[in-house]
Amino acid sequence: MNTFSEEHSAEVVAASFANTPDDRLREVMGALVEHLHAFVKEVELTEAEWATAIDFLTRTGQKCDANRQEVILLSDVLGVSMLVETINHRAGRGSTESTVLGPFHVVASPPRELGDDVALDGKGTPCLVSGRVTGTGGEPVPGAQVDIWQANDDGFYDVQQPGVQPELNLRGLFTTDDDGRYWFRSIVPKYYPIPDDGPVGQLLSATGRHPYRPAHLHFIVSAPGYQTVTTHVFVADSPYLDSDAVFGVKESLIRDVPVVDDPARAAELGLDNPFRTLTFDIVLQR
Ligand code: BEZ
Ligand code: FE
Repeated sequence: MNTFSEEHSAEVVAASFANTPDDRLREVMGALVEHLHAFVKEVELTEAEWATAIDFLTRTGQKCDANRQEVILLSDVLGVSMLVETINHRAGRGSTESTVLGPFHVVASPPRELGDDVALDGKGTPCLVSGRVTGTGGEPVPGAQVDIWQANDDGFYDVQQPGVQPELNLRGLFTTDDDGRYWFRSIVPKYYPIPDDGPVGQLLSATGRHPYRPAHLHFIVSAPGYQTVTTHVFVADSPYLDSDAVFGVKESLIRDVPVVDDPARAAELGLDNPFRTLTFDIVLQR
């Protein structure tokens, strides 16, 4: 008889899934049981610790609502979201690396014209954001959709401050021109904390971790015939680049945001002089 014992616990429980009809589900459940049991044995989990874990996971689930996804946030701070993202979107042949989507792409970005200003609340340091979308062969990608969103100068997304920020502040859906280029006016992104007033925030503070993400601007770039990339561009002089709470930073995504002092160009763009510029070219895989 294959009864439960400390020594054979993983084998006994994995065997209970042996008749799972779906091959992939059987593989995933078998590996999950094996690693979970090895973990419990390695740390010799006490009953009090097990109860604390159950309470933590229960509160994590209870914190979720239409606007708050605490379970994904837990996955984020454990680096699992980034690992799944990275395994599933391996960049190749010079294509732009992906990073985590995050929880704030919850409204459709409004279509905007090239050159539009997405900073509807008038706060922050003006910045011209521009770049070119190409394929890995260097060919321009005209008509690519460049979907962008960022936090405001106080470190909050519009959806976190309904009634405080204008709706759809710092969001836009742009279409690249005949040469694959996009450009728009915004503000220099600021670093900000992930929501830390729930169980995940308690976990961070109990383990001496801060909740901050370095300054970044989110992108989803898509075009027919190419793989969609979900990514960010990070500001090179931002704090927390080397300690992002959700491990989203990849070196290839960091850019300087230099000052441009050119009154004629500023007037042409409709920006105050001097202004900053953030250039982010995007390479898509076929
Ligand atoms: C974000 O960058 O918007 C984000 C990503 C993961 C967790 C929280 C926020
Ligand atoms: Fe973000």
